[in-house]
Amino acid sequence: MRERLAIEGGRPVRTAPFPAWPQWTEAEERALLETLRSGVWWSYEGSQVKAFEEEFAAYHDAAYGVACTNGSAALEVCLRAAGIDWGDEVITTPYTFIATANACLLVGAIPRFADISLSTWNLDPERIEALITPRTKAILPVHLGGEPADMDAICAIAARHGLLVIEDACQAHGAMWKGRKVGALGDMGCFSFQNSKNITAGEGGIVLTNSAEWADKCWSVVNVGRGRGGAFYEHIGLASNYRMVEWSAAVLRVQLTRLQEQTERRAANAAYLDEALSEIPGLNPVRSDPRTTLCAYHIYRMLYEPEAFGGRPAGEFARAMRAEGIPIALGYPEPLSQQEVIVKRSRFIRERLGLPQQAPDPTPACEEVCARGLWMPQRVLLGSREDMEDIVTAARKVYAAWS
Ligand SMILES: Cc1ncc(COP(=O)(O)O)c(C=O)c1O
Repeated sequence: MRERLAIEGGRPVRTAPFPAWPQWTEAEERALLETLRSGVWWSYEGSQVKAFEEEFAAYHDAAYGVACTNGSAALEVCLRAAGIDWGDEVITTPYTFIATANACLLVGAIPRFADISLSTWNLDPERIEALITPRTKAILPVHLGGEPADMDAICAIAARHGLLVIEDACQAHGAMWKGRKVGALGDMGCFSFQNSKNITAGEGGIVLTNSAEWADKCWSVVNVGRGRGGAFYEHIGLASNYRMVEWSAAVLRVQLTRLQEQTERRAANAAYLDEALSEIPGLNPVRSDPRTTLCAYHIYRMLYEPEAFGGRPAGEFARAMRAEGIPIALGYPEPLSQQEVIVKRSRFIRERLGLPQQAPDPTPACEEVCARGLWMPQRVLLGSREDMEDIVTAARKVYAAWS
């Protein structure tokens, strides 16, 4: 007889919580107290932000880091530094957090959405060139869930068409593409240190680059348009204040010391889940590209097939799994190409500039992933092998009940 599911009142596979996030020790407490007692709380005079910029950049094989308030700001800073402005176009992915596209719209540029690949859920390079117009200025790939986008193909297309590449690595701390860390594989790259991210200070962001020129331009945008080394009340450009505070950097410096070990732990648990879960019909873990040296697994991702579960939709499977004690959920609900805020603002910009209107970019693969893509957060992958076995046991239990 099949086991009664927890969602129907049966006993859940587990009630114990998975590891909590964020994690900290006395080292963060000490760093915060030392910063407090130093009496230097802002980056202009302090040492924490500067040290973090250097340490985070060095860890990511990048020459320069410019810290800022959050990942959304980091994206805007890159676009402003690059001079991307009203009516320009930026090609990006429809399957990402809204901040990626919002950053374009907030500087007056129009995001164009190239569909994703069903195997990686990242920007499909095959879809990019058809969207390039004389107004295109940059490609903005996202390393979704910590899996690097195909940077070889993207950088080749950008070089052919004279476009910039700005990486959204907000979910990809420490991820490696062909032996090199992401973030400075293109012209500039952005990271977020928001609460859920693989290292965090609650909020925070950074831009990485190998170019001294881009670094200086980003620094200027972060610092109200001042010139690096210039006078305090001399402003060489129009910009806002996006500076990171010393507290955040003090905490992030400590968090960074754990990143490598935690990334390897997540990857080892993900490798176990990839094998074990793919034995269950209808569950297809997203495998890394063979050129990915290390996936950061900010999200563990699976494509669900309702037919294998008696036609029940992915959301229902996720609810059943949560009842069994497994934190799994559907991901982004709709392609950004269809999000009302984005469609409306894109239309508004075109209208203001007298540009012809454009139908939303078709993104059928993204629609599939929105309907059937399941996520588990990175903190789950910090658990023990027994924790991972519970995930597989729960998935098998639901399959046995519904297949
Ligand atoms: C892909 C992506 N881009 C941008 C952001 C924006 O970062 P933040 O929340 O730090 O503004 C996030 C995360 O929140 C993200 O996941």
